[in-house]
Amino acid sequence: MKVLVTGATGLIGKEIVKNLHDRGIVVHYLSTSPEKVKTKTNTKGFYWNPETGEVDETCLNGVEVIIHLAGASIAHRWTSKYKEEIVESRVLSSNLLFQLLKTHPNQVRQLISASAIGIYPSSLERIYQEDFTSIEHTFLSNVVVKWEESVEQFTRLGIKVCKLRIGLVLSKKGGAFPQLLKPIRWGMGSVLGSGKQWQSWIHIKDLARMFVFALEHELDGVYNAVAPQPVTHRDLLFSIARILQKPLFVPNTPKWVLKLILGEMHVLLFDSQKVQATKIREKGFYFKYTQLEEALRNLLKKD
Ligand SMILES: NC(=O)c1ccc[n+]([C@@H]2O[C@H](COP(=O)([O-])OP(=O)(O)OC[C@H]3O[C@@H](n4cnc5c(N)ncnc54)[C@H](OP(=O)(O)O)[C@@H]3O)[C@@H](O)[C@H]2O)c1
Repeated sequence: MKVLVTGATGLIGKEIVKNLHDRGIVVHYLSTSPEKVKTKTNTKGFYWNPETGEVDETCLNGVEVIIHLAGASIAHRWTSKYKEEIVESRVLSSNLLFQLLKTHPNQVRQLISASAIGIYPSSLERIYQEDFTSIEHTFLSNVVVKWEESVEQFTRLGIKVCKLRIGLVLSKKGGAFPQLLKPIRWGMGSVLGSGKQWQSWIHIKDLARMFVFALEHELDGVYNAVAPQPVTHRDLLFSIARILQKPLFVPNTPKWVLKLILGEMHVLLFDSQKVQATKIREKGFYFKYTQLEEALRNLLKKD
């Protein structure tokens, strides 16, 4: 079997590619960075540029499933220009793939796309399932809505579309987790705001397994990609500190301070989403890391 992956060179993509290789699946991938385009055993890279519409159509040869992860990072200062890039990198890349499939004979039957729990309004009380529809209009929720719409168009080609709404990915190799660790390691960890905001996390290994599960079970529709037990930000920090045997005595950092430093993107640290992944569990997916404590112990163990 052959799978085409976009964003394969990123944090989540690398872990998914490893899982695909473990199953003997050949990977084609599209990269916007010419220096990352390589060919190795079981892997072939292709250059693409969603802005100019450039893509090598041979990337589709023999491909049955597309895993679509490409998108500019949201963890950069949200200037109005960069905000455009966050949206366009997702929408233009989906549109280019769509045009490619529409105009070239292919065997693609399923597209599995990354999405994000940022689509759900920030709330300390609500518990979110996939059928929640009262979306509020914030920058992040608008990004996710446009992103999901851009992948929904593939259904018009008779392709199954599966969207995984990803929560806070815990990986020691990148993303938010190493940034959370740093100040705690230095003994300078501080709870952000009230600390009551819900963080729906997922261990990167479970997330990569979930993409493969969606492929093997030919899932379509929306699925939340979060572990079964979300925690508050305060509990997350105190659990990390306990495992690292570090004190957490610095007073809470008020929201306005981070707003001053980070600008609008400070919402990434204060938004609260308590999300459930019951739907994918009912399909038979099981998590290796259901409890934060065991996920943290795995990530923080010395290799
Ligand atoms: N990590 C999380 O906690 C998290 C949570 C929710 C959702 N997600 C979403 O899941 C996806 C993968 O996340 P990740 O953490 O693996 O992200 P990542 O490490 O930043 O990787 C994303 C990849 O997208 C490609 N890319 C970057 N800018 C692009 C652009 N302007 N146009 C097209 N492609 C571009 C890059 O690959 P090339 O350089 O090879 O083109 C990059 O390796 C992202 O869309 C992200 O928003 C992540």
